[in-house]
Amino acid sequence: MTASALKSTGASSPRNEASSAGAVDAALESPILGTYKRAPVEFVRGSGVRLFDPEGKAYLDFVSGIAVNALGYDDPGLKAALHAASDGLVHTSNLFNTSPGERLAAALVSRSFADKVFFCNSGAEANEGAFKFARRWARTRGEAKHEILALRGAFHGRLFATLAATDRPAYRLPFRPLAAGVSIFERDLTELDAALSEDTAAALIVEPVQGEGGVRVMDSGLLRELRAITLERSIALIFDEIQCGLGRTGTLFAYEQTGVVPDMLTLAKPIAGGLPMGAILLTDEIASTIKSGDHGTTFGGGPFVASVALHVLDRLSDPALLAHVRDTGAWFGAQLNALAERTGRIRQVRGMGFIWGVDVINTASQIVADALGHGLLVCSAGEHTVRILPPLIATREDLTQGLHILETIL
Ligand SMILES: Cc1ncc(COP(=O)(O)O)c(C=O)c1O
Repeated sequence: MTASALKSTGASSPRNEASSAGAVDAALESPILGTYKRAPVEFVRGSGVRLFDPEGKAYLDFVSGIAVNALGYDDPGLKAALHAASDGLVHTSNLFNTSPGERLAAALVSRSFADKVFFCNSGAEANEGAFKFARRWARTRGEAKHEILALRGAFHGRLFATLAATDRPAYRLPFRPLAAGVSIFERDLTELDAALSEDTAAALIVEPVQGEGGVRVMDSGLLRELRAITLERSIALIFDEIQCGLGRTGTLFAYEQTGVVPDMLTLAKPIAGGLPMGAILLTDEIASTIKSGDHGTTFGGGPFVASVALHVLDRLSDPALLAHVRDTGAWFGAQLNALAERTGRIRQVRGMGFIWGVDVINTASQIVADALGHGLLVCSAGEHTVRILPPLIATREDLTQGLHILETIL
């Protein structure tokens, strides 16, 4: 039955139809536009690192809502923060002052290299804003340069400029022409040195750990060289920590482990515990060139979402949690390598903390589907890379259970 037929008969939700009918193509049935291939499962509640379907079957979640649910599900502190926020203002617009956004910006500034923060609603929006700020900074110095450079394997979002900085032909090709002045280069010092021209380049954007591009930890030596070049030529260095930031690598910000400090850093995903929020952290040097009216967004940093984010940021800054991610992550990486040895079905293991990519001989989509059947949620990052993003609260027992399931499947 199509969605329009459902509408005319007044039948219950297409999703209910789909689950009762068994193997119905949910994408065709659903009134939601089919931009995502949704797995044939519905979740109705969660607890800790597990999600539950309507029949009460538990699924061990190593996706975390794609690196969003750092605190897992049904977290009492997060629930209390949500309840408390609902007693206050939800939205007033950025035409007026509200305190939660001010306090959140101050907390981000005090924990990072940054002097100022711009709040928005998603990762792509944060990166688009950072591109604008880089160009504004150059123009204010009287320079006409505007090129934005991104790296092979990058994923920075689905809007026109961020798509131009995203290295996935299938995502890009149907939507050309993309934004002008945004190009992708090899992760190679010689090539980048030539491309980072003092006269044309306004910004270089880098994920310290590429997520969607296959979980690739950027070489710290290369990052240091790029920092030296960008400093010397007044090119803004933007770190996209939308997926790898806020604790996932075992420090609050991934840049802390690279020996490199960027000029701007973008955040989103886990920052507000599952509510939509993005942020751009920036230095005074760049911030001082942005004037009122240069950029804006209706919802950015509203009091409700900012009060929840204040709680999440405190939790993700906890040294004990970060030490847990570092230690348990290192142990988990060793376990994945041992699994590769034992099964002979894994070509390479990459990652750190609680972000791992496992290159499998099968297709990643096959492993993702088989894992689902065994009650484990993982996702892919490319045709042969299985991506593992457990909530940061996952214990060795949780991870061991996931490893057993992966071993069975492989
Ligand atoms: C590194 C990185 N940058 C940007 C984005 C885009 O974020 P959003 O989907 O919130 O626009 C993502 C999303 O997966 C991401 O992983």
